[in-house]
Amino acid sequence: MGFEFLLTEEHKMIRETVREFAEREIVPVAAHYDETGEFPMPIIKKMGELGLMGIEVPEEYGGAGMDCLAYVLAMEEVAKADVATSTIMSVNNSLFCHAVLTYGTEAQKQTYLQAVASGQAIGAYALTEPQSGSDAANMKTRAVLSDDGRYYVINGRKSWITSGPVADYIILFAMTDPDKKHRGITAFIVEGDTPGLIRGKVEPKLGIRASATCELFFEDMKVPVENVLGEPGMGFKIAMAVLDAGRIGIAAQALGVAEAALEASIRWAREREAFGHKIGEFEGIQWKIADMKTRIEAARGLTYSAALAKERAKDTGARYTLEASMAKLFASETAMFCTHQAVQIHGGMGYSKELPVERYFRDAKITEIYEGTSEIQRLVIARHVLGLRGSF
Ligand code: CAA
Repeated sequence: MGFEFLLTEEHKMIRETVREFAEREIVPVAAHYDETGEFPMPIIKKMGELGLMGIEVPEEYGGAGMDCLAYVLAMEEVAKADVATSTIMSVNNSLFCHAVLTYGTEAQKQTYLQAVASGQAIGAYALTEPQSGSDAANMKTRAVLSDDGRYYVINGRKSWITSGPVADYIILFAMTDPDKKHRGITAFIVEGDTPGLIRGKVEPKLGIRASATCELFFEDMKVPVENVLGEPGMGFKIAMAVLDAGRIGIAAQALGVAEAALEASIRWAREREAFGHKIGEFEGIQWKIADMKTRIEAARGLTYSAALAKERAKDTGARYTLEASMAKLFASETAMFCTHQAVQIHGGMGYSKELPVERYFRDAKITEIYEGTSEIQRLVIARHVLGLRGSF
């Protein structure tokens, strides 16, 4: 198809390897994990061995040393098999690993990046609080430097933390200087067994049920100053820049589930008969398939273009906020559109747990919500196009 020319032999190889792995190891158990809500640890371990938990991290830090397009292709294939598994992969790769690789000290990279990128440890990213989802700067979690300047004491709570119940290491954003508002936020790397870190109950969710989510509470939790990520006060910029990378991963995830919905619909349209014809012979079904295919290819273009922008940024340092937000916005709305159409094309069977189509539909919804809702993506895009605040 149209964007194949962008792919090197290495890209095609990783796509093929991950596709085979996902079909063999993830597809057969995805419904089980969705039903039980169990965390798919055996799959995650195998993905770690394959190098999928730190795809863009250099090999010296335990990663696979590939580029962002390779990450996008791998993410697409995993999401096609199971969105929940791809969520765990995305937080490890483009939130945790990207943050430590970009802002971490050498010691932080040796300890935390090495473990998470190699898949031996699970990473999480804790930004959201009960009163601050979209308005991320409005956080109440407070970090106070100890009198001897050796550690911070952190109190507060974070909500909706993906992989929170199982994370070994967490990137945590807390207010160190409330008078400075967003410029008073600092990022920390918190070890999962730190006294004072309390994990809440696992949230029951509509979709991505195997991706464990919980609240985190901090009660006089002491974090050494060596675990500050970047500089004190730089936390909000780190949070936003890391989300730019994260949003490309979510775009790829959305693309993957949209493709899964289309492939299922094509199979069904060729098999299912009504009124003496295969339903794919009816215009009503053909138009849905045509719209799904067209939107998927448009989403692919925006997603690959964002991946290439991120790749260029490794040399230029330029921001790719606009590309990432456009890809995330369009791909997530495409995922919702395609999974909705797939349920409709399948009729009663689309509503049944006998087929994975209803799971695609439930799972796709989250891509319009996390890592910035569609409304926030539109706000970011508009601010960039108009040259307003936040765009420079
Ligand atoms: N890169 C670098 N810096 C950035 C930036 C970016 N992408 N975006 C903003 N900034 C900088 C601005 O330049 C500005 O800098 P100055 O201090 O020098 O002025 C500063 O950050 C503040 O920017 P804004 O004035 O634009 O900030 P705002 O308060 O208006 O908020 C927002 C902007 C876009 C709405 C932001 O709050 C946002 O993205 N909200 C959504 C939060 C979100 O996506 N949460 C996801 C949680 S994580 C998750 O979902 C993971 C998961 O479960 C899988």
